[in-house]
Amino acid sequence: MKNWHHTDRIMAPSLLAADWGRVTEEVTRAINSGADWLHLDVMDGHFVDNISFGPQMIQAIHESNDIFLDVHLMISRPDHYLPRFLACGADMITVHVEAEHDVAQTLAEIRKAGVLAGLALNPATPFEEVIPHLPHIDLLLPMTVIPGFGGQAFMEDMMNKVRAAAAFRTEHDLNFHIEVDGGINTQTAAIAGKAGANILVAGSSSFGAKDMKAAITAMRDA
Ligand code: DX5
Ligand code: ZN
Repeated sequence: MKNWHHTDRIMAPSLLAADWGRVTEEVTRAINSGADWLHLDVMDGHFVDNISFGPQMIQAIHESNDIFLDVHLMISRPDHYLPRFLACGADMITVHVEAEHDVAQTLAEIRKAGVLAGLALNPATPFEEVIPHLPHIDLLLPMTVIPGFGGQAFMEDMMNKVRAAAAFRTEHDLNFHIEVDGGINTQTAAIAGKAGANILVAGSSSFGAKDMKAAITAMRDA
């Protein structure tokens, strides 16, 4: 597996916008279209107002191909479900700072299992809340929509958090990736990249595009 660095632009299509009747074919389509990572949105109907899929689905995707699996847990009790997500083939597990768990402990357990640890924050959560965790994560995800659904509009105000995170990283000589998720298209990819984000999650604008390869290439070059 490639050792990704935060200076690499990483394109991570979100399976949420794929055709779920043909999941493994859709993953192949993403890989053939230039996806670097596959973003997998897990929703429990409690932390967010939607229900998606769990570790069994991720395991099936893992067994069907070799792409890096970027798992975004939008669930209230990531600590409780962690052993199952650690065992299903995830390469990165991102948990929310707002969920009901000991955030530092969950992050440490993810890393202890040899999986990369990500931390997400909702639009309403200030950047200050994640600061204590920044030395202990591999990825920070300032959400650019309210999590739960694809197809929402990009919240440009969140670029303040992206810039603050990038500045903090330089100042403290850290290495975490900065991911953006929600409303990413060619225009907003350029805005997020300029602010300092290197991982671009895109659902509607990638799986939803007629020509997924052209769409991913355009966002990569934006
Ligand atoms: C939203 C999810 C996103 C979603 C993005 O709760 O975290 O990953 O799939 O969808 P788009 O790219 O359509 O905004
Ligand atoms: Zn997501």
